[in-house]
Amino acid sequence: MAEEELKLYSDKYLDKLNPKDEEESSPVTVFGLTFKNDDERRQYFREELRRKLPELKKIEGYPIGEDDDIINLSDPPYYTACPNPWLNDFINEWEEEKKQLVKEGKRKPDFDVKEPYASDVSEGKNNPIYMAHSYHTKVPHPAIMRYLMHYTQPGDIVFDGFAGTGMTGVASNLCTSNNEYIQIEDKKSTGVRHSICSDLSPIATLIANSYCTAFNPKEFRKKAETILLKVESEYGWMYETEQEGKKGKVNKGIKTKNTKTKTKNADFAALTEKCGKMKSTISLNLP
Ligand SMILES: C[S@@+](CC[C@H](N)C(=O)[O-])C[C@H]1O[C@@H](n2cnc3c(N)ncnc32)[C@H](O)[C@@H]1O
Repeated sequence: MAEEELKLYSDKYLDKLNPKDEEESSPVTVFGLTFKNDDERRQYFREELRRKLPELKKIEGYPIGEDDDIINLSDPPYYTACPNPWLNDFINEWEEEKKQLVKEGKRKPDFDVKEPYASDVSEGKNNPIYMAHSYHTKVPHPAIMRYLMHYTQPGDIVFDGFAGTGMTGVASNLCTSNNEYIQIEDKKSTGVRHSICSDLSPIATLIANSYCTAFNPKEFRKKAETILLKVESEYGWMYETEQEGKKGKVNKGIKTKNTKTKTKNADFAALTEKCGKMKSTISLNLP
């Protein structure tokens, strides 16, 4: 696989999200129950979710979908593609954690916001997390972090009922002291916030879950590389070109309306030189 493609899955990128240190086969404890590994945890809670579906279906807004599809999309208790019956269990855990954070001096019991946040918030839409998946009116997470740092303190529970692809969840997870997006003046209130993200759109919540739930970067990289290799072996030929008897990979294409340019290699060579970044010339008849 090309080196550039592998960089997409580099530690620098993956470690920014929510990496889980344990190997996939390590024991997992959720709500006081310990499982051999994440697969066993998922299977147990999927069965529980199936049992709870008749009650959940009575809730207004329950998604239109087959039970099996809803169960298979879900990664319970963290993510359910329908109302989540474990919300109160999470809240109870987080409330307990708050008491501990107060004892450790990381939270104030009498936290008060004295002034509204008043500052220009301008963040680029080019960080790797933002660009991993597009979504309409998606907000860059560093912008949300500014508000979280001002209006909340470590351990607080943040609810986003229109969460889209979960940037509020990402921002909550990343309010840690080692995060490059934390402003210097906010360093004193660093610490993870917990988030509850909800949205009407199942595809949005599925993406949000991938962004927000702990995952194993090594496993992810292995699976992503397997998919890339499969796609390359099936469709790679579409990105190949032949010049002077040699086969090469097309790095970039230039779309032009100038019919003369699009068929003449010499003109393309001149164009690619202008672009500067292109590694090889292209001889394609573009539509
Ligand atoms: C502006 S987008 C949010 C994008 C989000 N900030 C992000 O970073 O990805 C608004 C979201 O509200 C959702 N939405 C609209 N009406 C809703 C409703 N009644 N209940 C829940 N979600 C709703 C839409 O599906 C859409 O994903």
